Amino acid sequence: MAVNESLRVLRTIHYDEHHYSLFVSAGTIGPKTKPGHFAMIQAGEGFRPYLRRAFSIADVTKVAGVPALEFVVKIVGVGTAALARFAEGTPLPVLGPLGVPFPIDDLLPSDRVALVAGGIGLAPLVLLARTLAARGIAADLFYGGRNENDVLKRADFERFLGPHRCRYATDDGSLGRRGRVTELFTNALAGGVRYRRVYACGPVAMFRALAELLAEAKLEGSFAMESEMACGFGVCLGCVVPMVDGRFATICKEGPCVSPAQIDWARL
Ligand SMILES: Cc1cc2nc3c(=O)[nH]c(=O)nc-3n(C[C@H](O)[C@H](O)[C@H](O)COP(=O)(O)OP(=O)(O)OC[C@H]3O[C@@H](n4cnc5c(N)ncnc54)[C@H](O)[C@@H]3O)c2cc1C
Ligand code: FES
Repeated sequence: MAVNESLRVLRTIHYDEHHYSLFVSAGTIGPKTKPGHFAMIQAGEGFRPYLRRAFSIADVTKVAGVPALEFVVKIVGVGTAALARFAEGTPLPVLGPLGVPFPIDDLLPSDRVALVAGGIGLAPLVLLARTLAARGIAADLFYGGRNENDVLKRADFERFLGPHRCRYATDDGSLGRRGRVTELFTNALAGGVRYRRVYACGPVAMFRALAELLAEAKLEGSFAMESEMACGFGVCLGCVVPMVDGRFATICKEGPCVSPAQIDWARL
């Protein structure tokens, strides 16, 4: 059950001028959060921006011993810029945890899974990597971005999963292989690796390509989708996406984690 809480800003770490991690006190949201959940945050002051903004709960962690939620944010507009400027101690209205998390309860210690991230799509995969590591489930990370600065929190992923399980791709070749993250993943499949499930978050173009690869390889997937959201809990219908059964599904309530086989990619 989601709660609306006022959570204090504990720390902001700026990676570069476009990306930062925001840590807020965990409140009662922290213990209820599962990998893939998100929160709606009042990102500015007054009416700018008017609506809350959606962010994946990237991690449930501690800051100087205080239980904390981490959000990893890319600045794209007024809300994400305002959130970056809040001073330590500022109370932030946060509604969460929201949505359907990644399916992980059915995984066995003998399973091997893949995590595929594009750009800021790393966010929901951090807590997933931490949780899988704690359960002893082997996970390979395939993470791509435009350049090295786009590929965030590498140290955390390598600590949770092991450096040998983390592979990177960048458009300009500044980190890892030059090219797309889906090419990295295709190479792994060509090497004969068989994944129990593939968890992914990234831009729509990455999702489309990955959905095709998974269908061809008959692999199960769970994609943390994004859509522009006004309410975050199934009321405004602003976030719907077309499904193969002809329906439209609310990404905030029936997602954000959905099976790619259920999405009608041609109509999206
Ligand atoms: C479930 C969910 C989880 C998300 N998790 C994260 C996260 O962990 N980190 C992160 O940085 N961002 C995340 N986002 C995207 C984030 O919500 C948007 O970047 C944010 O709402 C933009 O707000 P703004 O006021 O800065 O931009 P605005 O000034 O409102 O818009 C700037 C530009 O961003 C586009 N935009 C606005 N909202 C979205 C959206 N929801 N998706 C895609 N484009 C949008 C607008 O069309 C416009 O082009 C998530 C979105 C969803 C739905
Ligand atoms: S954001 Fe309002 S219904 Fe999904």
